[in-house]
Amino acid sequence: MDKAGLSEKPSSRLSRMGGDIPEAVRDVAPGKVGRGNSSVVASSKMMGMIGGLVGVGAIALGSGVWLASQPPQVAVTGEPTVTPSPANSTPTAAPTATPVENAIAEASLLGHLPYDEAPPEELQAVSGGIMMRQKAAEAFLQMQEAARAEGVNLALISGFRNQKDQEHLFFDVKAERAQVATQRAEVSAPPGYSEHHTGYAMDVGDGDVPATDLSVDFENTRAFKWMQANAARYSFELSFPKNNPQGVSYEPWHWRFVGDRHSLETFYKARTFKRSPSQPVSEPVSNPNSVLPPNPSPNPQPNP
Ligand code: DAL
Ligand code: ZN
Repeated sequence: MDKAGLSEKPSSRLSRMGGDIPEAVRDVAPGKVGRGNSSVVASSKMMGMIGGLVGVGAIALGSGVWLASQPPQVAVTGEPTVTPSPANSTPTAAPTATPVENAIAEASLLGHLPYDEAPPEELQAVSGGIMMRQKAAEAFLQMQEAARAEGVNLALISGFRNQKDQEHLFFDVKAERAQVATQRAEVSAPPGYSEHHTGYAMDVGDGDVPATDLSVDFENTRAFKWMQANAARYSFELSFPKNNPQGVSYEPWHWRFVGDRHSLETFYKARTFKRSPSQPVSEPVSNPNSVLPPNPSPNPQPNP
């Protein structure tokens, strides 16, 4: 079938592999000792057994002496090694972050990962002047059509955003709301770190219930429930579910496209994200308004 030999019979693959195994360590079937005189074979077997027993004894003795000289160790199981802790102290698991996770954590800022801006030639207008990357735009329009056929009104609120727009959303709104950077980052990415830069992310509302736009209440709309059940058919997924490892506030309105190789690679790096110990996790909040200052304005601005 192919040159990798996937259609080849397993037996022929194995026999060729056997050619790479040193003869001395190959399995030999019982009753097939090999060529030559049987008595010579028997006596050489006996000598071999005696030699083997002496050898095993020597190895066991040597190993015992060596093991006795070693500190106690936890068996290797593929699980993180836990160093035995002194009595009366609380055992703590060793950090489990891989080098890749560490590299991602180092690249992040306040829980957000850096994203390149989509090239202008890859953007396409979707509705109301909102742009998205072409594949994501097409998928959204198909999804919107399917929802409409079931009486559900998906409204596109936001798509591609450049760094300048994000600068306003992060810094100006932060100042207006008197938020510190860590509070602001729970609901908005710093410029250079928003999924919206990629052109694959979008904010969706229920066209029939605009009062829930960019609010956690959106999760109670028919639009959200429809998306929960169907968005994966169009390769969209929720970027910031409840208790996400990035520590970003739950955003039921913010979805991202993962329907081709580039988008998948772009975001699945985020899926392995673990905050580094040097970046304390602030409690994710279920309602973005709860991070507003003590006396918020009566009509707080939403968080795109
Ligand atoms: N609201 C999301 C986190 C963003 O600003 O990209
Ligand atoms: Zn968003």
